[in-house]
Amino acid sequence: MKELALDNKLFEIYLSEDEIQARIRMLSNEINEYYDDIYNEPVHIIVMMNGAFLFAADIVRQLDFPLHMYFVKASSYEGVKSKGNVDFQLPDDLDITNKNVLVLEDIVDTGKTFQVFLKEIIKDKPKDLKICSLLVKHKNQDIVEKIDFAGFMIEDPFVIGYGMDYNGKARDLKDIYMLKKSE
Ligand code: IMP
Ligand code: MG
Repeated sequence: MKELALDNKLFEIYLSEDEIQARIRMLSNEINEYYDDIYNEPVHIIVMMNGAFLFAADIVRQLDFPLHMYFVKASSYEGVKSKGNVDFQLPDDLDITNKNVLVLEDIVDTGKTFQVFLKEIIKDKPKDLKICSLLVKHKNQDIVEKIDFAGFMIEDPFVIGYGMDYNGKARDLKDIYMLKKSE
């Protein structure tokens, strides 16, 4: 079992690079199909930074429709706990009124971040708004149902790697690791 020690915490491998990439190929097929059936116009992609940067880089290269990309820096975590309050800054050039919008998230945990965010961007009246998250913690069924495209349903423990960090570390890892149960 691949393990990783970081700041006195022990993590073990949870999803390998191959598993992640295979799932992203399936997700991109689903997304291509969705936009193919309904629209023939650019899709406005909003990437929730920093965590979703690798996921977005991998998935957008497999989407076969024209798109605009925006990057929003959102934060609600400190260490392995949610701070509860969500901060984000919308890009000055955000132009989503009457547009097809797809939000890309790395992970949805309590759902607070994307709910606060959606509430804000819905004011701009997009024509269609979908959310795609690589990981969704499945403890909260109400939240799970709000995710249009979900990569993996996962358990509660904190995860790192493939864009996700622990106090700024581990974003560069190709695999995803989970905090060991004893930690
Ligand atoms: P939520 O608001 O509780 O849904 O948390 C959403 C954000 O917190 C995600 O976009 C991540 O950036 C971060 N986050 C939540 N859970 C984890 C985790 O297990 N590892 C790393 N970051 C996480
Ligand atoms: Mg995030």
